[in-house]
Amino acid sequence: MVKHEKLQKWVDEVAMLTTPDAVYWCDGSKEEYDRLFKIMVKEGLAIPLNPQKLPNCYLFRSDPSDVARVENRTYIASKTKDDAGPTNNWIDPNELKDTMKALYRGCMKGRTMYVIPFSMGPVGSPISKIGIEITDSPYVVANMHIMTRVGNEVLEVLGEHGEFIPCLHSIGKPLAEGESDNGKWPCAPLEKKYISHFPEERTIWSYGSGYGGNALLGKKCLALRIASVMARDEGWLAEHMLILGITNPEGKKKYIAGAFPSACGKTNLAMLIPTIPGWKVECVGDDIAWMKLGKDGRFYAINPEAGFFGVAPGTSMQSNPNAMKTINRNTIYTNVALTKDGDVWWEGIGYDPPGALIDWTGKEWDAGKSNAPAAHPNSRFTAPAQQCPSIDSDWENPAGVPISAFIFGGRRPHTIPLVYEAFDWNHGVFIASTIGSEVTAAALDLKVGTIRRDPMAMLPFCGYHMGDYFRHWIQIQYKTAPDKLPKIFCVNWFRQSADNKWLWPGYGDNSRVLKWIFARCDGTGEAVATEIGYMPPEHAIDVQGIHITRETLNELLRVDREGWREELKLVKEHYATFGERLPKELYDELEKLEKRLSSK
Ligand code: OXD
Ligand code: MN
Repeated sequence: MVKHEKLQKWVDEVAMLTTPDAVYWCDGSKEEYDRLFKIMVKEGLAIPLNPQKLPNCYLFRSDPSDVARVENRTYIASKTKDDAGPTNNWIDPNELKDTMKALYRGCMKGRTMYVIPFSMGPVGSPISKIGIEITDSPYVVANMHIMTRVGNEVLEVLGEHGEFIPCLHSIGKPLAEGESDNGKWPCAPLEKKYISHFPEERTIWSYGSGYGGNALLGKKCLALRIASVMARDEGWLAEHMLILGITNPEGKKKYIAGAFPSACGKTNLAMLIPTIPGWKVECVGDDIAWMKLGKDGRFYAINPEAGFFGVAPGTSMQSNPNAMKTINRNTIYTNVALTKDGDVWWEGIGYDPPGALIDWTGKEWDAGKSNAPAAHPNSRFTAPAQQCPSIDSDWENPAGVPISAFIFGGRRPHTIPLVYEAFDWNHGVFIASTIGSEVTAAALDLKVGTIRRDPMAMLPFCGYHMGDYFRHWIQIQYKTAPDKLPKIFCVNWFRQSADNKWLWPGYGDNSRVLKWIFARCDGTGEAVATEIGYMPPEHAIDVQGIHITRETLNELLRVDREGWREELKLVKEHYATFGERLPKELYDELEKLEKRLSSK
């Protein structure tokens, strides 16, 4: 039935190695989705939620060892260590394959092996790519149904000789004769988990985890790590960026793509509801952007995903009403808390728990007595993008949407102002290469209060040497005319006062900053040149209707020269880690900034 010989051969080989009880080709239909849930409910892995409150929604509880992306078990196995660069874990690809083959041998025993043909991006778009994920997890299949476009039409586009990215996944928990999961999330112990990428072969092998970015291989593995390599080779950009459309009261619309490290509110920004009258923001994507140059010389972006895999805690009708309205049906919840009447709850949902709960580990939880959170801090919702009330009418346009601006940001309590604009492309790449976030929890083995540099928010997602990635960003400008390039901005919603209070209200009021960015792209926004870039004069930020004092706004837009001199030292340390592969253009920008700061 499958016309693609190479694909059939690969599927046969994997089945030989992993010895599943059955092989099943996914067609992406609703019947298939429902059937899988019947099985998962019966096995005690999925809990159906209250259909009156959350129709067609299910809850899963994962194993405590399997709750997040495992960066220390993620590998870029390029042929040489140097090509993976200093920011990636590396193992020789042959050695890694030997290790993993031994793990894969017989690993699907007692399970069904699912073959998922999926498209990242609208099926048939010239910017889209096809992947085939093989997995033994029906949870992964169901999530892939939401997060990607799955099914027969993908095989149609693939035809007999089309290119696909093989994505092999196993949870690493074979079943003995007569054994079942018995309601327990199956996975392998941490030391046996491997999330591996073979960039030259454009192949992904994942073993031992069933969770999120470790297992839904279209997302971080394909759409960022492998796609970043393809983008380098083919002359486009695969970025960890949200995409939004913003329309002014006169009906003029522009698209903006923005990169922020994880946990900086990307989903909130992508779904923002402006607080300034007459302005509208629409969502194209909340996590990943693929961008190619169009015939007119501008960058056109697609969101390669079809759903949102968002962090639940902190999501509320106050922080993100559009997300709350997106996830009230047809949604998969993982590791949130369960109420007695089959509803979900998490910390920061905006109201107190309605009585005792079952926490994410499956135990009784009482607000007055329990110390640990009821929902895991990284608990998630998986929801179809089309359910978002503010989804953009062009979100599935195969040609993409034209990008006017890139914004970069992080959590920076000090030094970085609310917004500033790069003088030109190279300066913008310099800014993007130095963004970072303050470390707020000791979980990452880093000191709380220090800055974790996360260039372009791609630190965990760049599939090759970061220095070469910066060079790719520098080089791509020469493919088009300077006036066609998106303008580059840096934003910081998180600046604090001396007594550690947020200075900027954030959320919907971030539209006030977007309004200035819009005006700058339109050629109408006022700006003054400072040492660090173009900045809005105070009156150019629309603060009508909010209570913000002149002093506070002043502080938000102040160039903290002392702070910047400290920042320069840290940037130098950061740059030193890339050695000779760091493009000279970026050292030049560093030097220019240093000169500007020392001349006053
Ligand atoms: C994500 C992340 O889950 O960036 O999107 O960690
Ligand atoms: Mn992300």
